[in-house]
Amino acid sequence: MLTTPANTHSKSLCPSKRPSPYYASASLGAVSFPVCPLVIQLNSPLRRHLRGHWCAALELDQSGRRRPRYFRRECSACHGIDGRGQASLFPNLMDTDWQWGGSPEQIEQTLRGGRNANMPAWGPIIGEEKTRDVARYLLDFSNREHSGRSVYEQSCAACHGTEGAGNVFLGAPNLADNIWLYGGDIDSILTTLQEGRLGKMPAFDDRRLDATQLKLIIAKLAK
Ligand code: HEC
Ligand code: HEC
Repeated sequence: MLTTPANTHSKSLCPSKRPSPYYASASLGAVSFPVCPLVIQLNSPLRRHLRGHWCAALELDQSGRRRPRYFRRECSACHGIDGRGQASLFPNLMDTDWQWGGSPEQIEQTLRGGRNANMPAWGPIIGEEKTRDVARYLLDFSNREHSGRSVYEQSCAACHGTEGAGNVFLGAPNLADNIWLYGGDIDSILTTLQEGRLGKMPAFDDRRLDATQLKLIIAKLAK
């Protein structure tokens, strides 16, 4: 049972009193997405504990453990208070699937430089029929006889790899592991293909997180 101890409920720790500029600036593809810690709060299993105490509750993760305050402050608006991602838009940082690489060096580069993913909109390029064909192929990826395989080899393999393993230099995700950032049902995949995806991870410099804080976060994520 989660508690919200009174002594952690301090105004100076409350993200709503000190919103990070990032909280309001998430822009994904064509959709601009005002992200506020309150959204997480309302979608969270913590919700029923939060009435009147939500700032305090954000100090604790679901198992009641404390999280580094700066992770909550700088990252949780997008990646969730538990780091498991949210809304099919922000990746889970607690799994072993890394779009941009999971070594300490690669994660450091992600944090310091930010990342801009660029998945082209394929609908207009290859047409409706091939788009549907290759979308269906992704759900049956090991079937080399599938009619979508030739479209894949022509238009997709350059970034996602012939075996679908992805490419950490481009942020092209693994398409063969059944872990989906934007959803793995046929409709979500079709939306990805028709509209493209432009995931943006903001850069964090030494002013937002000093070298020690960055190292601690990296150590935690790289495990
Ligand atoms: C120029 C490189 C490039 C090419 C070519 C490319 N992709 Fe992608 N793809 C990406 C990148 C980068 C992402 C990650 C987008 C993001 O994170 O916003 C991505 C994301 C995806 C996703 C979302 C995966 C998820 O986890 O939700 C799917 C599905 C996908 N691509 C399928 C395809 C298919 C099918 C083709 C061929 C028709 C293709 N891609 C061609 C670079 C590419
Ligand atoms: C404005 C929202 C936002 C904030 C704030 C944010 N991120 Fe991200 N982050 C993203 C998005 C979106 C992506 C996916 C980019 C893409 O599609 O390639 C991402 C990707 C990442 C990745 C790469 C994951 C992979 O699979 O390679 C890491 C690591 C990461 N974020 C860590 C953090 C940390 C740590 C913080 C806090 C210091 C943070 N992020 C803050 C939106 C955000």
